Amino acid sequence: MTTTLTVPREPQNAAQDAGIKETLDRMIDEQMASLPDLRLLSNAERRDIIARYTSVLEGNFIYWMTATVMATKSEEAKPILLENLHEEVTDAHPVMMRKFAVAAHAYPDAADSLAVDEALTNMRRFLGRLQGVPSLLTMAYFEGFIQKFMPYLAELAAGLGSTEMEYTDVHGVCDIAHTAGLIQAFEVEKANHPVGPEVDLFEGVDLLRALIDTIVYNRADAMAAAA
Ligand SMILES: [Fe+2]
Repeated sequence: MTTTLTVPREPQNAAQDAGIKETLDRMIDEQMASLPDLRLLSNAERRDIIARYTSVLEGNFIYWMTATVMATKSEEAKPILLENLHEEVTDAHPVMMRKFAVAAHAYPDAADSLAVDEALTNMRRFLGRLQGVPSLLTMAYFEGFIQKFMPYLAELAAGLGSTEMEYTDVHGVCDIAHTAGLIQAFEVEKANHPVGPEVDLFEGVDLLRALIDTIVYNRADAMAAAA
């Protein structure tokens, strides 16, 4: 069984049976494999991908993790999320993100922000519904993807002549533990507060994958994947 952005995936029960970590890993590897060949990108394309990524990550990661804490009902799961937020805030990860983009001459402008607007709004609306279990799964995908995306992002910046790599260095390492923590929090929340069969566990993951596609390709049809 394979999962792609365009082919409808199996119901979430099949994914649960396969093991949620394995399912997320497979989906992340598939999205990584869909990225354009770095050697074929122009400098303008490299700059645009960094700019759209920054326009999403700089202002939204802490917001979305905060929404996920608010959505999580299990007291045992909350410390995992708060530890993640603590690191984000005390180490000022948005500062790293901004420095990374500025050094690559890829800080987002209005066009970059508007290019991701619709896909970003969909994610904000989804997380605003404060559904603990699917929100945790979405953030686990996000952490897992970010960690694997870091070498690619670093190469984009290096190709533009930048040597400012604190953001990619930090997130290539710390997000391994963050991803494992979020999967653990997801399992705890799902056990304590089971969701009904009417809840699509992967709704947020699909919206996030569409957002990442928009970051990479700036294409409106990426939205169709989440429909
Ligand atoms: Fe971070």
